[in-house]
Amino acid sequence: MAAFSSSKAIVVGLALFVLFMGSSRAQLSIDFYSESCPWLFPTVESVVQSAISKEARMGASLLRLFFHDCFVNGCDGSILLDDTPSFTGEKRAAPNFNSVRGFDVVDKIKSAVENICPSVVSCADILAITARDSVYILGGPVWDVKLGRRDARTASQAAANNSIPPPTSNLNALISSFNAVGLSTKDMVALSGSHTIGQARCTNFRARIYNETNIDTSFVQMRKRNCPSATGSGDNNLAPLDLQTPTTFDNNYYKNLVSRRGLLHSDQQLFNGGSTDSIVTTYNNNPSTFNSDFVTGMIKMGDIKPLTGSNGEIRKNCRRVN
Ligand code: HEM
Repeated sequence: MAAFSSSKAIVVGLALFVLFMGSSRAQLSIDFYSESCPWLFPTVESVVQSAISKEARMGASLLRLFFHDCFVNGCDGSILLDDTPSFTGEKRAAPNFNSVRGFDVVDKIKSAVENICPSVVSCADILAITARDSVYILGGPVWDVKLGRRDARTASQAAANNSIPPPTSNLNALISSFNAVGLSTKDMVALSGSHTIGQARCTNFRARIYNETNIDTSFVQMRKRNCPSATGSGDNNLAPLDLQTPTTFDNNYYKNLVSRRGLLHSDQQLFNGGSTDSIVTTYNNNPSTFNSDFVTGMIKMGDIKPLTGSNGEIRKNCRRVN
């Protein structure tokens, strides 16, 4: 009898152990590197800080990298892989080509991290920390970032083309592309508040300033000055996504939308007489509600399909698989 209960206890213990290991492997946690890389956060932050001191826009570019990573088969560092003669990555996909930036800064962060704890921290996690630090350094909220993602050994240009919504999207398309990765309409509106920082190219807002009517007329005049109507002329000329404070993370993006000064067609879709008007109004009136919904959205976005356990790898160089 005694022998039976002790073997039963061992079986139950083993089952619990397997369950625990399984779930701890599948989940991200805020203290994932606390023993394996205790100086990780200050190491990342100091490189992000110096990059932003050199060029404030870099904070925006780093935040966007995380979005474009997570929306394409999950937050797995796939966007960082360079093309090779035998491999096509995501960098030349339409939403990324000539547009996403910050890869050199990620390289600098990765080598600083490799110096203190080699082959421990994934590139996917570096993007998550970098996005958080950028928002905070530019004046936005701060949050505990969940870690433990591993890096993909592959990437998909087709998935990048299909999963990242284009700026020509209408409200329904925006809602469904976020729903497709498990994010709600509210997450979509809050995360779009990222457009309180950074720049867009004329090619992405030309149709809006020349053809649309739900747009403030003096804003149109201002934007037309640096964005000629003819396709092919001035395509890469830049304008701030938030005309008021493009290097400060605040709620002015929503103030712009309410006064019909959204730069992208997709921006103004959030306040155009549809179901999301009330969310924009809330964020316009309550910066702290925006901040907390933004944080919720970032954490949810960071949870999209991570590779954990023995899946993927810890890349040594973010630009190529090991
Ligand atoms: C809702 C759907 C979204 C669309 C259609 C969209 C589209 C765009 C476009 C077209 C640009 C300008 C790119 C260029 O002209 O080269 C841009 C810039 C940017 N986007 Fe989005 N975006 C969306 C959501 C997001 C989200 C969820 C984030 C972050 C969580 C984000 C962060 C940024 C940032 C920070 C920039 C400026 C980047 C820089 O200055 O380098 N966007 N976005």
